Amino acid sequence: MFKNTAPDLANFASSIASWQRRAGRHGLPWQDSTDAYRIWLSEIMLQQTQVATVVQYYERFLERFPTVEALAAAGQDEVMPYWAGLGYYARARNLHRCAQQVCEHWKGRFPESVDDLVQLPGIGRSTASAIAAFAYGKRSPIMDGNVKRVFARYFGIEGDPSLRANEKIFWQTAETALDIAPPELDMTAYTQGLMDLGATICTRSRPACTRCPLASGCYAYQTGSQDRLPTRRPRKTPDQRPCVMLILEREGKILLEKRPSTGIWGGLLSLPQYDDIEAMESACLNWGLDVSQAQKMAGLSHAFSHFTLHIEPWLLQDASTKVAEPSVGHIWMPRQELSQAALPAPVSKLLMGLYQPAIFELAENG
Ligand code: ADE
Repeated sequence: MFKNTAPDLANFASSIASWQRRAGRHGLPWQDSTDAYRIWLSEIMLQQTQVATVVQYYERFLERFPTVEALAAAGQDEVMPYWAGLGYYARARNLHRCAQQVCEHWKGRFPESVDDLVQLPGIGRSTASAIAAFAYGKRSPIMDGNVKRVFARYFGIEGDPSLRANEKIFWQTAETALDIAPPELDMTAYTQGLMDLGATICTRSRPACTRCPLASGCYAYQTGSQDRLPTRRPRKTPDQRPCVMLILEREGKILLEKRPSTGIWGGLLSLPQYDDIEAMESACLNWGLDVSQAQKMAGLSHAFSHFTLHIEPWLLQDASTKVAEPSVGHIWMPRQELSQAALPAPVSKLLMGLYQPAIFELAENG
């Protein structure tokens, strides 16, 4: 299963826990608490955002929403200002729904088991395990990108870690490490230690192996294969291009954007297009839009001669009236006029798929 023929499994977890107490990160605002609400909030904020950024948001959020009840009772639009800037706004939407479910189904107390936690919105297996470990001392293993790097190097686990079959090996190894660890293992120190090792010592490039508590048993260190492990995901072939398109709808009109005169669809009207979700989110924030309301729609691919464009459309039905207007290069087109507009084929297909019923209705009603 892995290449390390002599892993020190018996001491793996305890070495990490004692290293964490000695040299890990301390004094972060969510540490030294077993309040599941505070821990859950930090784990959600930290899912895709760096510690240094989260620290600035965390306390402000807790001041405004000190309990899960306070968060559940607030409206989604009251929550957004406290999330704006953290990105990945689906997280904020799920956060709010999760708070409501904890109040409704769990009387305001986060459940203790990973199986129950993972049912809540926005909580994946690793986040559920982290909450269970930090809040309730459960012996549940975590496995995020940083932790995979530690495991891949220490145990010599080959293969793209994002592939399902390999993913299974990572989780099984993490479970074994906990099964073998002594019963008195401090789960907070171990869990935090894995995160800290991955973030500060076992870094992607130039890992600080000489300061690593696991170096003597580490496969990658012993064989000099730190740069090769974890196995890199094969590069997407350059002829596959993902993009995000925004379908912004207001008062029956859709926002269209004039394409630059060069490049694909030069000079045509199209939907606002971005390289990724983050770029779309920042455009929406600049326009004063509540991007947390955007819904992901079914994707569409379109083959050009040199590449295939993979479109991920997001629909944002904007009910507000006081937002700044997207202006230069933009027009608001009534939905019923879309079928006559000179739109790029896949964009037309996308919008027709979305609005065809309405267009049929209009045609029928004359
Ligand atoms: N990333 C995810 N959870 C974390 C935590 N508790 N501390 C530091 N980084 C993290």
